Amino acid sequence: MDAQVIRSSSESPSARNTGYATQPPLQRFLANCYEEFKSDNSGAVADYIPELRRANPAHFGVALVTIDGHIYEVGDSAVPFTIQSVSKAFVFALALEMVGEERVAAAIGVEPSGEAFNSIRLTNDNRPFNPMVNAGAIAVASLIKKDSAAAGVRMFIEKMQLAAGRKLRIDGAVLASETTTGNRNRAIAYLMLNFGIIDNDVNHTLQQYFSQCSLLVNCRDLAIMAATLANMGTNPVTAEPVFDFQYIKDVLAVMFTCGLYDHAGEWAYRVGLPAKSGVGGGLLAVVNRQLGIAVYSPRLDAKGNSVRGIMVCRELADRLGLHAFEFTNVGSSFMQSML
Ligand code: DON
Repeated sequence: MDAQVIRSSSESPSARNTGYATQPPLQRFLANCYEEFKSDNSGAVADYIPELRRANPAHFGVALVTIDGHIYEVGDSAVPFTIQSVSKAFVFALALEMVGEERVAAAIGVEPSGEAFNSIRLTNDNRPFNPMVNAGAIAVASLIKKDSAAAGVRMFIEKMQLAAGRKLRIDGAVLASETTTGNRNRAIAYLMLNFGIIDNDVNHTLQQYFSQCSLLVNCRDLAIMAATLANMGTNPVTAEPVFDFQYIKDVLAVMFTCGLYDHAGEWAYRVGLPAKSGVGGGLLAVVNRQLGIAVYSPRLDAKGNSVRGIMVCRELADRLGLHAFEFTNVGSSFMQSML
């Protein structure tokens, strides 16, 4: 993939491939990021789930979607990969909608753990630290699962389809691989069963969780999903309401403090955006009331976050002044000048 593969769906006359100089500023921003970071080959593709090893380490795509529905893309933004832990942000929203804040809070905390995503550790009151780590997401899966595993997974897929604005499916090979190798997640689940955080249907809960991680998406889907969060729960491309707007602030707050595991503090300091990463190589970030951005690049750092994903988001925050607390970040009026 080369830098020629730069697309914009904004369809304003200036966006229709009239050359680099006449591209809208956000398209130029993506093209610059692509050129600047594509030669960085640091990090490694996740291999603890055998099926994830198959990812092409060279793949690199970026997509950005504004809350008024403009889509900008560069590189491998249409390549499918599994959503993995990026799903945790969305199932947290689903749990808040389905069972309410009180039941969610009784089962799961909102404190950054300062530990790896798969840590087998609970808080002093025996709850998972937050919904963005495996323990918290497994507890969320237990809350939202339906009577049959198939019905729970279908409900999850339907919600995610609304957020992406297109049909999605589970990657059966990744699901099988997750299920076969997921003993650490089983250990976490049984620990939570011991403390009454999840019910007896441990296999059913884990099936829900493993299926959620195995949803196939592409970078453009994740950017639309991120923009849906930025747009108070309504998909800005389809105009469909997806998530209940009253819970968006809860989801973004936890993404801000816990979305990148033991890199979360550094991320809040340097990038300053609610975000979520996954070991499939996807990473999304939300600029509240302005835009969603997603990166796909499967080479991960030691903490399981996409190396180029972090670079692109940091560039977004630095170059466009979009850190949540940056004085230049004055809301959607600023973005209007970039379209
Ligand atoms: O639980 C697991 O091991 C994976 N299926 C999901 C992990 C993941 O993406 C963590 N994120 N960085």
